[in-house]
Amino acid sequence: MADAKPFHWEYTPPPAPPEVFRIEGGRPLHGNVRVSGAKNAALKMLAAATLTGERCRLTNVPEIEDVRVMAETLRELGVVVDHPSPGVYEVASGDVDWLFVPLEAAAKMRASFILLGPLLARFGRVIISNPGGDRIGRRPVNLHVEAMRTLGASIDYRNGYYYAQAPGRLRGAEVRMPIVSVMGTENAMLAATLADGHTVIRPAAQEPEVDDLITMLRSMGADVTRTYPDTIEIYGKKRLRGAEHRVMPDRIEAGTFLVAAAVTGGRVTLEEAPCEHVSALVEVFEQVGIPIVCGQDTIDVDATGLRPGDIRPCQIETAPYPGLATDLQSPACVLLTQAGGTSRVTESIFEDRLEWLGELRRMGARVEVEDPHHATIQGPTALRGAEVSIGDLRAGASLILAALAAEGESVVHGAHHVQRGYEHIDRKFGELGARIVRTADPVARTATTVGPAGSTSPATAPSEASDPPAG
Ligand code: UD1
Repeated sequence: MADAKPFHWEYTPPPAPPEVFRIEGGRPLHGNVRVSGAKNAALKMLAAATLTGERCRLTNVPEIEDVRVMAETLRELGVVVDHPSPGVYEVASGDVDWLFVPLEAAAKMRASFILLGPLLARFGRVIISNPGGDRIGRRPVNLHVEAMRTLGASIDYRNGYYYAQAPGRLRGAEVRMPIVSVMGTENAMLAATLADGHTVIRPAAQEPEVDDLITMLRSMGADVTRTYPDTIEIYGKKRLRGAEHRVMPDRIEAGTFLVAAAVTGGRVTLEEAPCEHVSALVEVFEQVGIPIVCGQDTIDVDATGLRPGDIRPCQIETAPYPGLATDLQSPACVLLTQAGGTSRVTESIFEDRLEWLGELRRMGARVEVEDPHHATIQGPTALRGAEVSIGDLRAGASLILAALAAEGESVVHGAHHVQRGYEHIDRKFGELGARIVRTADPVARTATTVGPAGSTSPATAPSEASDPPAG
């Protein structure tokens, strides 16, 4: 079914305006910070709003580039997307005149593929670009496509696009996933809300963003229930109605700020931060000996009494929720550079998520990448300011963390990757006492990634970026 040499892979996204973060490190962060709305919930909710012709209103939506791209993608389909005030989006998709999600959207953001399920279920057809091709990283979408086929859709793949059709309605079915997939679960669930009959998704992802999406769907009139921790059941409805929903807080942003407090030797209180969403990271803090206290929707980290070497080394391994989020692997690695001894990191979810450690090494970290899934980190290391390049969203935030902890000035190229998923990150760190500014890049550099052997190669497919990898 795959095509020989589709024009698809020859597409080069327009360059992002080159910007850098300039960071003067070595200053402990102090104060309170409110966690923003969750990117990985808001994006799916904007897509879910197309399941009805009535108006849906979302609040606490983060002001980030990925949300802007999703809103723009919907507008190009003919969906009305209003943004009346910061954090508020209203979506009305009564008339959709263009059931085509182009490569431009997929190249900017892999999450555009979440439109497959809702558009197919509501309008019976959609043509959608494959975001997971060679050109932009190893991120398959086979589970999404197979789930739609199980629900009765016919899907062809030509020239880099999936042509999906479901004459009549989709049919409820048992959707068995060979591995746990967050967006795969969500796509199947969104499609099943309008399918004819009963759908069971197993194993279903257990990430809190999936449950927040379920809450929104239920207020739209959908019959969706998590019947077991790993099972979601849906009874399809003929139509759904408009709804209002407040997006949950971003647990990945929360984890990033927790690490920032720890590695700068500061004290920070997170507000709107449910502790249970970051319990795996809280456990890491407890294991390594950093004081952390969970309150009612607040988390307090106090690293002011710690001296170099007080932090203990540990072994971390990423896993689907409730395990340690792969999106928090890179912040956790920055933390482990400050632990006295050898820590070991296992990245179980993705293959390209340890490459960024090469950039961390430029700041003095003693890191060895054994293979795409394992690394060791020796500490404690007094990180030093350096010029580094961001290759993807989560690694970008982590290089900022390292720069905040480092002595001296760092110049972090590729700021646009971070804008994709972190709301006003420079302003928020600034309010905690960090010296960080975002400015035009005087010398635009190509983002580079450093492989396990330390070889530097151009990041033609910056993971989350054109990524698309993860976000
Ligand atoms: C989501 C998150 C991302 C997070 C990731 C894992 C969004 C927008 N992004 O990404 O931030 O890092 O979950 O928690 O919510 N896979 C396949 N075939 C598929 C789909 C996935 O083989 O069709 C594989 C992936 O390559 C990966 C694993 O399944 O190895 C899990 O990925 P998945 O949970 O699907 O990640 P996303 O939903 O894309």
